[in-house]
Amino acid sequence: MNKRLLKKFFLKSFLILICFSSWGNLLLEARAAEVALPNFKDPTLITKGKQLYLANCIACHNKDPNKKGSIGPELVGIPFEVFKTKVTRGEYPAGYVAKRKTKVMKKFPHLEKDVPSLFAYISSLSTQKN
Ligand code: HEC
Repeated sequence: MNKRLLKKFFLKSFLILICFSSWGNLLLEARAAEVALPNFKDPTLITKGKQLYLANCIACHNKDPNKKGSIGPELVGIPFEVFKTKVTRGEYPAGYVAKRKTKVMKKFPHLEKDVPSLFAYISSLSTQKN
């Protein structure tokens, strides 16, 4: 291989390397954004969640989510994924042992974007230490 060809070869591999590494970074960033959880301590989220909780949930769950409601169980200390799946799809993620085996609660698919605020409000009232 002559010198010019060698130079061209290195330049090309260098450019390809840069392309791949930046793509890799973009993909990683996209994935991080997907799994990143909202800040559940955000006061705006908590206030919004309070309105939604009082409007949609306390017919069955307790006003104080640490306690059992008239129909539904207490709601503190539930992992976000479980909370989200139950509220929006009426199901539990595989492996989660639900507090009740019944299927009384309807699902709330229209509240999908509000699940973080509901969760933030309930967590803000939790008396559990964690
Ligand atoms: C019609 C009464 C009713 C309403 C309204 C209701 N729930 Fe429920 N919820 C229940 C009952 C009963 C259960 C127990 C499982 C079942 O039977 O579906 C439950 C279970 C749950 C669970 C799972 C608890 C666990 O760990 O097993 C979550 C989370 C939950 N409710 C959140 C909510 C939220 C948030 C709202 C308001 C958007 C809401 N529920 C509205 C009755 C209700």
